[in-house]
Amino acid sequence: MKIPAVLAVTLYVALASATGQERRNKHLRPVLERRAEAPLQPIVGTKGSEILVPENHAIDDQNPNSLKPPTTDGGLLGNLKWSFSHSMMKLQEGGFVREQVVTDLPSSEDFSAAQNHLKKGAIRQMHWHDINEWGIVTVGSVLVGAVDHQGKNQVFRADKGDIWFFPKGEGHVIQGLSDAGAEYLLVFDNGDFDAKGRTLNVADWVVHTPLSVLAKNFGVSQDVFKTVPKSVGSIIQGGVSDSSMSILSPNGKLEGNSSYHFQASKVPYTNAPGGGGRYLIVDSKNFPITSTLAAQLVEVKPGAMRELHWHPNGAEWLYFQSGHARATVWVGGGNARTFDFQEGDTAVFPDNAGHYVENTHPNETLYYIEIFKAPKVLDFSLQQWLALTPPDIVAQILNVSVETVKSFKTNKQVIIAGNV
Ligand SMILES: *[C@@H]1O[C@H](CO)[C@@H](O)[C@H](O)[C@H]1NC(C)=O
Ligand SMILES: *[C@@H]1O[C@H](CO)[C@@H](O)[C@H](O)[C@H]1NC(C)=O
Ligand SMILES: *[C@@H]1O[C@H](CO)[C@@H](O)[C@H](O)[C@H]1NC(C)=O
Repeated sequence: MKIPAVLAVTLYVALASATGQERRNKHLRPVLERRAEAPLQPIVGTKGSEILVPENHAIDDQNPNSLKPPTTDGGLLGNLKWSFSHSMMKLQEGGFVREQVVTDLPSSEDFSAAQNHLKKGAIRQMHWHDINEWGIVTVGSVLVGAVDHQGKNQVFRADKGDIWFFPKGEGHVIQGLSDAGAEYLLVFDNGDFDAKGRTLNVADWVVHTPLSVLAKNFGVSQDVFKTVPKSVGSIIQGGVSDSSMSILSPNGKLEGNSSYHFQASKVPYTNAPGGGGRYLIVDSKNFPITSTLAAQLVEVKPGAMRELHWHPNGAEWLYFQSGHARATVWVGGGNARTFDFQEGDTAVFPDNAGHYVENTHPNETLYYIEIFKAPKVLDFSLQQWLALTPPDIVAQILNVSVETVKSFKTNKQVIIAGNV
């Protein structure tokens, strides 16, 4: 909730005089920290106490379940959350990049990620990686060009919501097409994105090759390459390509099952049986080039919840694109921890950990992405498992009535409708 400073001060004074001199003194803070409401404190029932030292209430307000964990949380579970707001921006002439890697988030061994911005005409220079790359356009449109090892090529326009996948070693280039700028999110199937040899930029190779070798290789005079800049960033400001769609390879096009492009913006989402939202799975079943990095795009209605479930095939990387959520991650042995999420947050839930993701906002739709280092998205629904086990056995284990167990749904609900 954003409150204009003047209003905040007025509210503060009103509240302070209403609650008495003693309380006002206790909460006296510099003008900028004055708040309309009493700050959230770590008190649940008879447990906990007010924090006496100066406290960062803005962060507390975003993480109420860290300050006041549900009483069902327990044991020890390390941090599973990172916000791109904590990442170092790498500012470039045509945009920016910021990363989330395993040294930011220890559970992210199998994944690293990057937010990228390209101004109109800006070019993410030609490069390849020694790990697989998954990408989704989050704002605007970009032009993407790539050539495979057989000399087949593909040049495509990717619009907001569209996905690409580049197997390791496949060279590619990306250009921003939108007047107001374009952004895309990348996910790689290795947590150590900054390792040597991981990103291979073509201009870097050219300036580190003797001019005589370049001349011999390309069949031109040595003078041709004297103008290549000695240092080129990963992004350069340029002009929008006018010959983009007309490059025809004599070796053929990358299309159909060989395409690097999945037009998710044109594919309808599936309505969840639980009535709480919609989802789209993009994995090797409908996008065959994705050998690793299977994705589920999830839209959760206000108050609804991605049901209690787990994934048998690896850790889950998450990106919260819009809205507010909470999730409790349970890893067995009494260890469970609840996290709050909002725009720009990433998370990695451990392999096979039980969890849910709940939209905690009364009005906003939650949109988030689940990624797995696997060819397919697979999950187990807790409700379905209980419903398809002899009910008298489940009833004895959980000490609930057989009728209760019989009411459980035998089909996956995926996203369950509900209120906050
Ligand atoms: C394309 O891939 C799908 C899914 O893997 C497969 O069912 C289909 O037969 C493939 N089509 C061709 C033309 O290879
Ligand atoms: C949700 O919408 C209602 C009705 O418009 C509004 O009164 C309320 O403040 C909104 N809640 C939040 C948290 O934005
Ligand atoms: C099972 O539930 C009943 C109440 O229905 C309670 O009296 C009993 O203590 C519970 N059993 C266990 C083992 O917790």
